[in-house]
Amino acid sequence: MRSFRIAAIPGDGIGIEVIAAGLKVLDVLASRDKGFRLEVEHFPWSSEYYLKHGHYIPEGGLEKLKTFDAIFFGAVGAPNVPDHVSLWGLRLPICQGFDQYANVRPARVLPGITSPLRNGEHIDWVIIRENSEGEYSGSGGRAHRGLPEEVATETSIFTRTGVARIHRYAFELARTRPRKHLTLVTKSNAQRHGMVMWDEIFYEVAKDYPDIETQRVLVDAVTTQMVGKPHALDTVVATNLHADILSDLAAALSGSLGIAPTANLNPERKFPSMFEPIHGSAFDITGKGIANPVATFWTASMMLEHLGERESAARLMKAIEAVTAKRIHTPDLGGEATTEIVTEAVCDAL
Ligand code: IPM
Ligand code: MG
Repeated sequence: MRSFRIAAIPGDGIGIEVIAAGLKVLDVLASRDKGFRLEVEHFPWSSEYYLKHGHYIPEGGLEKLKTFDAIFFGAVGAPNVPDHVSLWGLRLPICQGFDQYANVRPARVLPGITSPLRNGEHIDWVIIRENSEGEYSGSGGRAHRGLPEEVATETSIFTRTGVARIHRYAFELARTRPRKHLTLVTKSNAQRHGMVMWDEIFYEVAKDYPDIETQRVLVDAVTTQMVGKPHALDTVVATNLHADILSDLAAALSGSLGIAPTANLNPERKFPSMFEPIHGSAFDITGKGIANPVATFWTASMMLEHLGERESAARLMKAIEAVTAKRIHTPDLGGEATTEIVTEAVCDAL
């Protein structure tokens, strides 16, 4: 039997609720399929843990995490810790420390879910977000704090290595999809250095993929395609910040942020990859038992796929879709079901 070691980091807010739901579903799936086993270890790293200990990740924590096959992550962010502290304390050290440079964000309107778009059934996208540099490089500084002369810089960093590898990843992924179509998103009209380099390297890499049709669209214009011509897009590659914004739009157009999954991949598998729902900690609904676990289930399916358990990954996806088709929905999708009801329904479908 294949066995995988999973590090579960539920983190903050509804992260705790949805990771518990996700592990339950994975458990049922594993006992049904019998081909694989998950050995799950819990890590208590959260904002509460930070307020008690002064750090999110204890000394040696990343070293320990490195020995796992995958990381199943909930959310980080709490009302009593500044967001930039929690982000740079937990999620980014893992993404950047483990070189998880490819962030993959599929968007699709699942059966039984209503898109706010008239032609939402055409949404079938995968957004590939550069996940290691760009606008999230953390480069910059502040001086003369609080004075009228105060100044701050926030520098985006783009490297040839970083740009070439995300484009290559995007072309490879586009090749696995039926449409074989890749959209390059930048803002190379206004941002004439890093973004122009993004465009140039894209077309260099494209030479190795003559079977992939490409289009180049500016980031502002691509939002109008997403809303008005969803069929124009298939696979999309964009920078860290641009894809962050586009993927929220994609999730909303697919019906809810509560269904959107993501994979932070180290494609070379030198480090474990990390799988998380994109919705965040959502303190407004924490503890109410109504968080939508679908994003986490879909995320779990992506994790299984990455681990090579293709059949089980597909089976889980089918079970999720069987449940959404029956409109067993949490309130974010206009329903009245609780996290538990949706979770039980997916377990039953499995
Ligand atoms: C996401 C989130 C994060 C991001 C936040 C929580 C910092 O919005 O994963 O899309 O911007 O990376
Ligand atoms: Mg985001």
